[in-house]
Amino acid sequence: SQRIIAPSLLAADWSRLADECSRAIRAGSDWLHLDVMDGHLVDNISFGPQFVATIHRTNDIFLDVHLMIDRPDHFLDRFIKAGADNITVHVEANHDVGDTLRRIRAAGLSCGLAIDGQTPFAAAEPWLDQIDLFLVMTINAGFGGQALIPETLDKVRAAKAWRESHGLSYHIEVDGGVHNGTLPDVLAAGANAIVAGTALFGAPDLSLIHI
Ligand code: DX5
Ligand code: ZN
Repeated sequence: SQRIIAPSLLAADWSRLADECSRAIRAGSDWLHLDVMDGHLVDNISFGPQFVATIHRTNDIFLDVHLMIDRPDHFLDRFIKAGADNITVHVEANHDVGDTLRRIRAAGLSCGLAIDGQTPFAAAEPWLDQIDLFLVMTINAGFGGQALIPETLDKVRAAKAWRESHGLSYHIEVDGGVHNGTLPDVLAAGANAIVAGTALFGAPDLSLIHI
């Protein structure tokens, strides 16, 4: 699949948000990754639909919205209205996964399903034929700047093998602890959509993009 680089705005300097978005886009980002956290599904609170709408209003780039929230079904319409292009929901959240994925697709958006660092691959199997993107968290979701958990790459390999054996075409996205040192293993495992916060926004030219 096509290589996609998606900087996570969580690691941008929010005091200069517009400049940070331009910097990421000029450097060649394919998508912007927006991490929404509600303090329930994960132990952190980030931002909501109004933030997503602001980024949408001021940038043309594809917005990859990652909902780390407990009731994605309840908030879904607000994120669709905010201008998300892809919405990814977690299998661990408190909702009817199949129904939420159907609603995302019905709105004409790309739909993604995520599994957290400790969740087995099998938890996602029932829905893999209904998604455009499969997000394998390579950390325990909640905070930027953590170290990649190497065992999670087994799930990337499993996702790639499943995609081939079932004739599917979802993107395989990784999120958490990706930097120059871990990227070769991540790519070798089969990921094609790469989220990185700290490693990209921490570098003046977001140089990871050019690997
Ligand atoms: C964490 C978020 C990630 C995070 C990645 O729960 O989903 O997108 O920002 O950050 P880094 O690249 O710093 O590990
Ligand atoms: Zn994310």
